[in-house]
Amino acid sequence: MKHTPAERTNVLNPIRHVLEREMKPNPKHEKSMINLGLGEPKKEHGYGIPQCINDAIIEQVNSGTCNGYTQASGTVEARTAVATKFGTTENPIDPNNVFLTFGTSGALYNAIAVLCERGDEVLVPRPGFPLYQPICENLGVTWSHYDLVPENNWEADLETMKANIKPNTKAILVNNPSNPCGSCFTKDHMMAILQIADDARIPMICDEVYYGLSYDETRPFISFSSLSKTVPMICTGSLSKIYCIPGWRCGWTIVYNNSNYFDKVIDNLGKHSMILLHPTSLVQASLPKIFAEVQEEHFVNLKLRLKTASEVGFERLSKIKGVRPIKSSAAMYMMVGINPDDFKDIEDDVDFCKKLLAEENCFTFPSTCFLSKNFFRVIICTSPEVLNEFGDRLEAFCNAHLK
Ligand SMILES: Cc1ncc(COP(=O)(O)O)c(C=O)c1O
Repeated sequence: MKHTPAERTNVLNPIRHVLEREMKPNPKHEKSMINLGLGEPKKEHGYGIPQCINDAIIEQVNSGTCNGYTQASGTVEARTAVATKFGTTENPIDPNNVFLTFGTSGALYNAIAVLCERGDEVLVPRPGFPLYQPICENLGVTWSHYDLVPENNWEADLETMKANIKPNTKAILVNNPSNPCGSCFTKDHMMAILQIADDARIPMICDEVYYGLSYDETRPFISFSSLSKTVPMICTGSLSKIYCIPGWRCGWTIVYNNSNYFDKVIDNLGKHSMILLHPTSLVQASLPKIFAEVQEEHFVNLKLRLKTASEVGFERLSKIKGVRPIKSSAAMYMMVGINPDDFKDIEDDVDFCKKLLAEENCFTFPSTCFLSKNFFRVIICTSPEVLNEFGDRLEAFCNAHLK
């Protein structure tokens, strides 16, 4: 007899499942690996970090004073640093409304946990980051989707959004800029979404892990928090992408307590933080210095690199018969459309990515991981050279399989 594990832990994070269990690269492959899987900016691809980030944590290690527990929701200094960094004169943030978490993942878990009772529902984007569903499943919360439309710069289909709001919908979750779409909403579109939330009296969870990372001047990044004084919202973010240190696992939940609607939510977030406690004390202690000393130049360079890679990748892939890249304008990804009917022996996006890995040793994620069909996602937080080499291999692959 074996112990039956709790059903609520039988959750599937499709990306991690594919990465760690389904699409194992062959270490003996004759071609070198091109890994366009995880959105992980790395030094070897030109995404180094400013020295002051290293200095900040080394200083804390050497001080010997940051090895203990901190307040469950994070130190006052670290929470104040987040409030100062993301607050504005028009929209100041109270450090008591900030909670430090294990990356944006932890922040999302806390946000969904505190807003939804078992049996409640969250509206999530499709295609979308695939962590939302397993969090919901784990918490006994259900979800439904609104679609992001590729022909419309991946803007949300507002009709499905409205139509899918039910009496038990407790939050509309938006992710802007988007993973996997590599897109950024316009202000008008954001206002339209806020109007829906306002009309339905539903709070929003805004996953802003790619805060500021739009490189299309016509669609600049704007935080949802700056556009409404009436919709209560929880914004989540982290050091992961914008400071290029995803492994440091430091994120935050910022509560915008519009109309004091979230007084009790803030109280419960504080209690909930006491279960797993805070992220690493050393990183927390480094936060004020990281925010204060990383110069604007880092973000300018980061966006420039992403923009260049996005243009090179789009141009190269546009020349390949059988694939339809959609130019990205934000975040770290590009979606590429395929039509299985164009190929002799490709069943769907999963089959496409598995065969591309087996034959060309190129790792990409099928859009099934993001709960949509007939696309695959490539990262663009890599070098233009890697994207060009990928284009060559992808072209050879398509030519071998096209009808
Ligand atoms: C949209 C989105 N939200 C959240 C996360 C998780 O971020 P973190 O690594 O800070 O937990 C990611 C990571 O890729 C992401 O793309």
